[in-house]
Amino acid sequence: MEAGGYYNCKKTDGICEDVCDSEHGSKAVFSMSRLKCALRGFDLRALLILLIGLPILIFVIYLHGQKVTYFLRPIWEKPPKPFKVLPHYYNENVSMANLCKLHGWKVRETPRRVFDAVLFSNELDILDIRWHELSPYVSEFVLLESNSTFTGLKKDLHFKENRQRFEFAESRLTYGMIGGRFVKGENPFVEESYQRVALDQLIKIAGITDDDLLIMSDVDEIPSGHSINLLRWCDDIPEVLHLQLRNYLYSFEFFLDDKSWRASIHRYRAGKTRYAHFRQTDDLLADSGWHCSFCFRYISDFVFKMQAYSHVDRIRFKYFLNPKRIQHVICRGADLFDMLPEEYTFQEIIAKLGPIPSTFSAVHLPAYLLEKVDQYSYLLPGRCMRESG
Ligand SMILES: *[C@@H]1O[C@H](CO)[C@@H](O)[C@H](O)[C@H]1NC(C)=O
Ligand SMILES: *[C@@H]1O[C@H](CO)[C@@H](O)[C@H](O)[C@H]1NC(C)=O
Repeated sequence: MEAGGYYNCKKTDGICEDVCDSEHGSKAVFSMSRLKCALRGFDLRALLILLIGLPILIFVIYLHGQKVTYFLRPIWEKPPKPFKVLPHYYNENVSMANLCKLHGWKVRETPRRVFDAVLFSNELDILDIRWHELSPYVSEFVLLESNSTFTGLKKDLHFKENRQRFEFAESRLTYGMIGGRFVKGENPFVEESYQRVALDQLIKIAGITDDDLLIMSDVDEIPSGHSINLLRWCDDIPEVLHLQLRNYLYSFEFFLDDKSWRASIHRYRAGKTRYAHFRQTDDLLADSGWHCSFCFRYISDFVFKMQAYSHVDRIRFKYFLNPKRIQHVICRGADLFDMLPEEYTFQEIIAKLGPIPSTFSAVHLPAYLLEKVDQYSYLLPGRCMRESG
C-alpha cells in the first residue's frame, strides 16, 4: 500500500509534491491531502469536460432519447405471446376442394358472403388497388370517413369528392360519414375508437348477418384475393383469424418483414363481433396479403399522414416535415421519424438498423397495381421520386 502511494506521488506534478513528504504523517492527513490533490486535477480537466460535455450529453439525449428507450425495449418490455401460425397453401391451379382439404377444412356448397369494412382517411390509390384485388370475392364494401383526423385536425372528405372513381363498386357500397368531435389535446386513440364504433353501426346497416365474413383491416392492409376466396369457400375455419401480411414501406420496393398481423377476418356474430384493430386471437394465417405503409403518391400526403395519425408525437422536430428531407428518406428506405426498429430482441433491432434494402421482385403483387402501371408506377421498385402535389 505504501509502495502504491509512493508510486502515485511520483507521477504527480509540483502542486502535490508536499503530499509525498508527509508519507509518515497520520493516515487521515495523508488521505485528506490526497483528496485535495485529486480535486485540483479535477479542477483543471474534469471541470472543463463537465462544462462542455454535460450540455452536449443532454443535447444528444434530447435528440436521441426516444432511440435510447427503443433500443432498450427488450429490457423493459416482454414480447407478446407468439401467434399460432396456420400454414397457407395456394396455387391458382389447385381446386378449391383440395385447397380446403390441405388446410384441414371442408369445401362448402356455396361461398359465404364477404363484407370489407374500412375507416378511410385519404389513401385513394391504395383503396383503388385494394377494392380491385378483393372485388371478385366481396359482397359489400363498407367505408366510413370523417371530417376529422384521429389527431383532431380538420380533413376533406376525400372519398366523397372522388366517389366517381369507384363506380365499379357503387352497387355494392355502403358509405358513411361521421362528424369529428374536434377535442383539443386529446389522445388520438380516443377519436380512433369513436370512429370504429360508428363503423360497427355502418356494417349492420350494410346488412351483415351471422356467419358472413367480415374483414377488419386498415385500408393499406390488403388481404390477397385468393386468401379471402379460400376463407369464404371453406367450412370450419376459425371464428376469428388474423391475417399475416407482408410489410412494405413507401412502395413495394422496400420489403421490411412479414410481421404485419393486425388485419383480421371474422365469421360475424350479431351482438358479439366488434370492429377492432388489436389482437383478438392466437391464430394467424400465413402469407395472406400486403401491408403498404406510407405508400403515397405526393409528398404532401406524407406530410399530412405524419401529422394525422395516432403517433403524431413522433414528429419531434419541424424539419421532419421538410419535403426535401422526406423525398430523400423515401429513396433511401430510411425512417421518416428517425426511429429505431420496434423489436423485442437486441438481435432483431440490430439486424434491422439502417435503411431497408431495395427488393427487385415485383412478383406476387396485387394484380391491379401491375395492370395499371401507368397510374401506379410510383409503387413499384426503382421509382422512388414523388410529385410534390
Ligand atoms: C392451370 O389452369 C388453367 C386454367 O384452368 C389451364 O389453362 C392451365 O393449363 C393450367 N396450368 C397448369 C400448369 O396446369
Ligand atoms: C364535420 O361534420 C359535421 C357533420 O356533418 C358538421 O356538423 C361539422 O360542422 C363538420 N366540421 C368541420 C370542421 O367541417
